[in-house]
Amino acid sequence: MSLLEAARRARVNAHAPYSNFKVGAAVRTASPYSNFKVGAAVRTASGEGDIFAGCNVENVAYPEGTCAEAGAIAAMVLAGQREITEALVIADAPLPVPPCGGCRQKLKEFAGSDARVTMMTTAGAVQIMTMAELLPGAFSNDHLNDPSEAP
Ligand code: THU
Repeated sequence: MSLLEAARRARVNAHAPYSNFKVGAAVRTASPYSNFKVGAAVRTASGEGDIFAGCNVENVAYPEGTCAEAGAIAAMVLAGQREITEALVIADAPLPVPPCGGCRQKLKEFAGSDARVTMMTTAGAVQIMTMAELLPGAFSNDHLNDPSEAP
């Protein structure tokens, strides 16, 4: 299944009764060997990279809802994978839908600077940016562990 098809299918299942704004997202991972930390993990051998999809899940207490990207990332991590090579976000919107600020940080945790993020509308409008373009100056582990900051 393509990245687009995975995101498209995920969007259909969105639980979005409050905004009525259904979003689908899919990430493609590199295919590293599983380190078998999870007993039931399956090792993948796809040269194309595995694809994990997610949809937004809203809650009547609005801040408790989660974005489509978060669902895709959770599915990826559950499967024992940690490296996003590509992501796609799709919604029925007038303009290609970019990941929200929080989701940019979530994607960045697992995606390199050059990872491609495709933003789409269900009508087919497309915008493509890299992770670095979407989140310049990102907070990273370097900031946490800067030796010059040590007391
Ligand atoms: N939404 C996402 O799922 N991903 C984004 O990056 C943008 C926003 C969802 C959250 C909420 O359920 C709905 O879109 C309207 O904000």
